[in-house]
Amino acid sequence: MHCAATRLASILRPRSFRVSSILTLNHLPASASLFSHLPNRHLSISARAMAEYKLKDVTSLSLKVGDKQEAEVEGIEGAKVLLVNAAGTIQAIGPKCTHYGAPLVKGVLTANGRITCPWHGACFNAKTGDVEDAPALDYLPTFKVVEKDGAVYVSGDKETIKSGRRKPNIKCAVAKQATSDKVVIVGGGSGAIGAVEALREKGFSGSITVVTNEGYLPIDRPKLSKALIADPSKVQLRDQAWFDSGSITVVQDEVTGVNFSNKSVQTKGAGNIAYTKLILSTGGTARTLPLQGFKVLGNIFTLRNVHDVKKITDVLGANGGSKKKVVIIGSSFIGMEAANATAKDHDVTVIGMEKVPLERILGHDIGVSAQKGLEKSGVKFYLSASVDKAEPSADDPSKVGAVFLKDGTKLDADVVILGIGVSPATEFLRDNSVVRLEKDGSLKTDETYSVVGLKDVYAIGDIATFPYHGPGSEGKYVRIEHWNVAQKSGRIAAHHIVSPGAVPTGADAYFTPVFWSALSAQLRYCGNTAASGYDDIVVQGSFDSGSWAAFYTKGETVVAVATMGKDPVMVQSAELMNVGKMPSKSQLEGGLDVLSLGAP
Ligand SMILES: Cc1cc2nc3c(=O)[nH]c(=O)nc-3n(C[C@H](O)[C@H](O)[C@H](O)COP(=O)(O)OP(=O)(O)OC[C@H]3O[C@@H](n4cnc5c(N)ncnc54)[C@H](O)[C@@H]3O)c2cc1C
Ligand code: FES
Repeated sequence: MHCAATRLASILRPRSFRVSSILTLNHLPASASLFSHLPNRHLSISARAMAEYKLKDVTSLSLKVGDKQEAEVEGIEGAKVLLVNAAGTIQAIGPKCTHYGAPLVKGVLTANGRITCPWHGACFNAKTGDVEDAPALDYLPTFKVVEKDGAVYVSGDKETIKSGRRKPNIKCAVAKQATSDKVVIVGGGSGAIGAVEALREKGFSGSITVVTNEGYLPIDRPKLSKALIADPSKVQLRDQAWFDSGSITVVQDEVTGVNFSNKSVQTKGAGNIAYTKLILSTGGTARTLPLQGFKVLGNIFTLRNVHDVKKITDVLGANGGSKKKVVIIGSSFIGMEAANATAKDHDVTVIGMEKVPLERILGHDIGVSAQKGLEKSGVKFYLSASVDKAEPSADDPSKVGAVFLKDGTKLDADVVILGIGVSPATEFLRDNSVVRLEKDGSLKTDETYSVVGLKDVYAIGDIATFPYHGPGSEGKYVRIEHWNVAQKSGRIAAHHIVSPGAVPTGADAYFTPVFWSALSAQLRYCGNTAASGYDDIVVQGSFDSGSWAAFYTKGETVVAVATMGKDPVMVQSAELMNVGKMPSKSQLEGGLDVLSLGAP
């Protein structure tokens, strides 16, 4: 176990150093460097970096379990730490979420020491700083704190305090013949990155090969429809050096089939790749319209990857970026986000089959509010509408010029974006006699994301239909297309590969799905209604004020929560759902504020 040994050594080294240095530091005056009297050449890099810094305006460490407090660090410009009482351990951690930098002081710290980000639900263990749930990839650093003479001091090295993040240690030099364990991951998306990180973090020492047909390293896909970023290096989650450091091979190729008997995947160009454990994480294939014009005309695009975005932005940027007519088909999340991203500079029309946008997931009133938000930016809506055909442009008959609705309405178009959903990307398994796909093309799994009926094969992310144990769902099978769910399922599958006998517990046994969307304002959502459905919505706040929380209920049980402008109600609800303490519908109707319940 070469990698496990390396990992153990690297875990032990900094910890033992930190403890001994802190004992000494506690006797030093504030801000004094422990080794300042020694010439630099006598110091190891880490020893030279350790120092003690005073926290501005903090006079005592009287935090109760679940309490947190942000503090400025004197002597390091712009630096802050977050003081926490993590289930009895008082210490400091990085103050910002390592995903997009949300202030964790506004998040939720649970009684058992888990801190959840208010924006998109990333969870960290506040004792160790390790990631417990997506979408964060980097850990938080942890620092010892000490109170003396009416002041509080934090110990750490300047760079780490300043950066407020810590890369997980995935270093692993796989010895060529040392191990026969080979994990092959098909797909390079959210699920894959979760699996890769968790495999190495948990000490997996075999080879890891990721086969992806996307043409670049795993990217932050949710940003595509929010900011139309056409350069993969700007949305890359990890760089090549990072994959190299963990001995993770990324093969840019398409998987065309799997031989489950001799345990190998077939690729278009790289031949067969053998595995001992296989993780399938191929995500979704964006749907297209089987209607006249849509298959043959140019400037009609789906929106799933950077290649799609590049094509869209090339058209939008043509003629010096002059105003274009953008027709978006589909009034669910991708369509609404694409409308939001393009409305400032272009004439945007959204066509939807529903009466109001997002109605199926969020309900009528929230859909209306989302529609009004985009209408303020000039977006026009054609709802309860069906598309008939696309016709060519008069200037260039190879390109689209208009979209016609079934009622005869003609909508001029320079570019059409299709946001009409995805199907599980499992075409390469369709004719496989060993595997049975579900009706929608997905793979049925158990709680560990092992594919039912197959040995040593996992399906994660958008292609997995798994038993959901959230409120009101009773283990019914669902497929959830969320970024966090894909990454979390990758982490759970990795855990099962490393510790096959371990029964999932805590955060791995049940997690609350979290979703977000950039509409006219940030929408946050947790829970799921696919298994249970919902029969009512309790709304606190008002849509007009832009600050509201909607609780989706089935009987007395809250099965999902959506919020806008009400942080951290969504993550507080997610944590309450995790521990089975979400209040009832009647309590919420009576005005109960979930934040008043304190640390879950
Ligand atoms: C534009 C956009 C915005 C989104 N925004 C949000 C959001 O704000 N919040 C949220 O929660 N969710 C969002 N989602 C959904 C979220 O991105 C997905 O649920 C998530 O990416 C699923 O992860 P995955 O690993 O299953 O699949 P993906 O991330 O799609 O990765 C699948 C990978 O497999 C590769 N692949 C497919 N077939 C093959 C093959 N045969 N051989 C080799 N490689 C293959 C693909 O190229 C891709 O690299 C968004 C999705 C899109 C498209
Ligand atoms: S900023 Fe924390 S989860 Fe996104």
